[in-house]
This record gives sequence, structure tokens and C-alpha cells, in this order.
Amino acid sequence: MRKKIVAGNWKMNTTVPEGVILAQDVVAKLSEVPSDVNLVVAPSFVHIAQVGEVVNGTSVGLSAQNCADEVKGAYTGEVSAQMLSSIGVKYVILGHSERREYYGETNEKLVKKVNLALAEGLTPIFCVGEKLEERKANKHFDVVGEQVKEVLFTLSAEQMANVVIAYEPVWAIGTGETATKEQAQEIHAFIRATLAEKFGALAEEISILYGGSCKPSNAQELFAQKDIDGGLIGGAALKAEDFIAIAKSF
Ligand code: 13P
Repeated sequence: MRKKIVAGNWKMNTTVPEGVILAQDVVAKLSEVPSDVNLVVAPSFVHIAQVGEVVNGTSVGLSAQNCADEVKGAYTGEVSAQMLSSIGVKYVILGHSERREYYGETNEKLVKKVNLALAEGLTPIFCVGEKLEERKANKHFDVVGEQVKEVLFTLSAEQMANVVIAYEPVWAIGTGETATKEQAQEIHAFIRATLAEKFGALAEEISILYGGSCKPSNAQELFAQKDIDGGLIGGAALKAEDFIAIAKSF
């Protein structure tokens, strides 16, 4: 049985006091969420310690949105995987399209980040997804296949078993436009088949989340798809009510 996961990527939103309240609101509604659904919140680095105090001891997992591609040392402004694990962080989002696009994250850098995160016992939520022009040119399978192969195919099976994948079509992020359930299922199945080329039956155990304008009104039809194991939620994760409604959509 694959893990069902609903993760909230808060991106660069909320002040610290607002983030603490948001986390408290999520925890207050936890009893509404089926026990087999794993909730994760990913606030900014600045929030993590305080949000951690709210969610520690609950079933909500704490995630970062990024980590450094070096172990430690003279890398001003960076946050290491070890720093994150030292304060109880369990997950780290890596390779989000916004980081690939605005901060020059390459697959090469992501190999280093994924390895460092795994070495610290963090679960990478590894993001893949194509841009609009790539989808229009029917290149989405090539693009996503390459992202999976160049990064995840470098891992051992033991490492891969601890990775979660998020498929986020860039054209659906923050645009209100969602991939149809058929489009999403098609590419999730493709990602799983690609993983199987290298990892065999393990591919069936890997959770693959959908992200991109996922909200209470469309989560149910998306999560009902055979290869969709949950969601990576942006905007709708900033309202506890919507985030919890999504988590109840399996
Ligand atoms: P939205 O849900 O706001 O489209 O963002 C999705 C996303 O990028 C999550 O990582």
C-alpha cells in the first residue's frame, strides 16, 4: 500500500505569527482527517522551528521547501539538510519548478541535494513537471522522463524507497488551471513506468503526488486516479479549512 500524502507548500507566504496560527488551525482539525492520510506542512525556513513546536507530537509532518547542495561551511545564506534534521524536520521539497526557474536549480544540483537530504534521514519530495510550451509541443513525457532519470536513476533502490515524487505541471501552478484527471493520471502512470525501468516492483510503492491548482473542488477526482497518491498544495494550503478539505478527499 502506497502512502497517501497531502503536503502544503506555503512558499514565501505568511508572517511567522500567521504561520503559527495556520499550523494551529491545521492541528485543531486533524481529527477530521482519516488516519491513513499523512499531512505535511512546508513553511519557510524562518517559520520552521516555531511551526515545529505546534506540529511536533501530532501526526503532521514538518517539511522544508529547499536545502543546500553542500554539507556545511562557507555557503552564506544556505541551510543544510543536517540543520533541518537537527530540529525535527522530516521532509524537504526539492526541485520545485519555481526553484528550477528562478534560482537556476539544475538536475545536477538536485542529485546532490537529494543525496544530502537522504543521508540526513529526510524524505525528499522531488518535483517534476513540464512548462506550457513543452506540453503544447507534446514534449511533456520527454521532459518529465528526463527529470526522473537524471536525478532519481542515480539513487540506489534503498534510497529511492525513501523518496516521494510530486508531478506539478508548471502551467497549472498558481494559475487556477488544473490538469484534467486524465492528463494527470496519464503522466503519473508514465512516471511510475519510468521508475519501474530502473527499480522494478519498487515503483509500485512510491507515492506520486499531484500539484497545480489542487483545491477542495477538484481533489476528489484527482485522488481517485490509480496512480495519484495525494497532493502538493500551494495556495489552498494557506487556509486550514481548504487544506483539511483536500486531505479528506481520498
Ligand atoms: P498552487 O496549488 O498554488 O497552484 O501551487 C502548487 C505548487 O506549486 C505546490 O508546490
